[in-house]
Amino acid sequence: MQFPAEPFRIKVVEPLKITSREEREKLIKEAGYNIFMIPADSIYIDLLTDSGTSAMSDNQWAGLMLGDESYAGSKNYYHFEETVRHIFGFKNVIPTHQGRVAENLLFSNILKEGDVVPNNIHFDTTRANVEYHKAQAIDCVIDEGMDPQNLHPFKGNMDIDKLEAAIQKYGKDRVPIILLTVTNNSGGGQPVSMQNIREVSAVAKKHGIPFFFDACRFAENCYFIKEREDGYQDKTILEIAQEMFSYADGCTMSAKKDGLVNIGGFLAMNDDQWAQRITNMLILIEGFKTYGGLAGRDLEAIARGLKEVLDENYLRFRINQTRFLGEMLDKEGVPIVKPVGGHAVYVDARRFLPHIPPEQFPGQALVVELFVRAGIRSVEIGSLMMAKKDPQTGKMIPPKLELVRLAIPRRVYTNMHMQYVAEAIIEIYREREKLKGFTIEYEADFLRHFTARLKPI
Ligand code: F0G
Repeated sequence: MQFPAEPFRIKVVEPLKITSREEREKLIKEAGYNIFMIPADSIYIDLLTDSGTSAMSDNQWAGLMLGDESYAGSKNYYHFEETVRHIFGFKNVIPTHQGRVAENLLFSNILKEGDVVPNNIHFDTTRANVEYHKAQAIDCVIDEGMDPQNLHPFKGNMDIDKLEAAIQKYGKDRVPIILLTVTNNSGGGQPVSMQNIREVSAVAKKHGIPFFFDACRFAENCYFIKEREDGYQDKTILEIAQEMFSYADGCTMSAKKDGLVNIGGFLAMNDDQWAQRITNMLILIEGFKTYGGLAGRDLEAIARGLKEVLDENYLRFRINQTRFLGEMLDKEGVPIVKPVGGHAVYVDARRFLPHIPPEQFPGQALVVELFVRAGIRSVEIGSLMMAKKDPQTGKMIPPKLELVRLAIPRRVYTNMHMQYVAEAIIEIYREREKLKGFTIEYEADFLRHFTARLKPI
């Protein structure tokens, strides 16, 4: 059997509302054709994000009952700290309520105006946090990572020459940290190889620059290493994770992904001085160092989730469920980013709808049609989200790719749900020339995709 069935059975169910096409047409019109404005309980299958949308296990729910809500020194903190130290190997563990706070705390303490932070590709919140500190976020992913058709097995890899060139250009004193995002979300959820991690680490050591992971989807990255990289087939996911993190000085983490929880994150690092300064600030903005904006029960759920996510049967299912969806689409000729990444399938809307120019948002046309036709929520990652404006002419400069992301929540939907999603997209693909573009009626000055109102052409 190529694609494994679910390695869990369902103990609690959440009924889904089935709406009619007429109801959905009304909903999307009222929402200004913006999928972020649709009430979530009117969505049948929600593939907006894999973040904070996981189903917790019975073991995690049981752990919630053991929450110790002491202000200081909760026993759940010690369990959480011990678990993070065991897997990630870093000495200091600082809880936060989600990943972007870990980023903000880290950058607030180490970045100054004019600094430069290289990464394979910065995730939006990471880039925004770097830029907020008047520093520059530079992407150094290998060229293959930007080509939707290139089948390189580790398209998340950092281009070592680009990294070295950035350090040469700006000088190592202006590069206070090197980041590496695993898996590379903004590049399609593509993995980074252990070989590349070693090379990045060597560059960082040579220049005396600290090296941190953005570790949100670390377990998925480890599974790809086990599957694709020579020498790792007989290692456990835990061993691969421990090796991976041994090359770095710390990490930021959104536990809303591979922590298998609905809220939580952390910052972990070896450097005591950085940790001390960051902890002092944590107390100012998040909470005491043994809870960091979370309840004791949340810390317990993360500790348990981090152990469960290392289970190879779970990961085999997880990675293959995403691949299953991608391959069903690919087989019918639907253009997608290949190879399929860990947490999402990305449809190439530019090739799907070549008759709709970027100025008319082909990705959004597909997002709207997928909701109207099938009650599925996806998200546009193209001109609506990322286009820039020419400062002289005011004309839109579209990004390189017009994508639609189908992000798959962990342990939430069955393979049959995936089949339904695939069938809906294939149906749309067969009638694709009927789809029309959109114009913007209202947009905010920044992050317009969240609140824009659109109108069909
Ligand atoms: N880093 C990466 C690679 C991410 O994908 C995210 C979130 C964050 C940091 C921030 O973590 O949400 O806990 O503050 N990604 C979500 C997504 C929102 O939909 O891809 P957070």
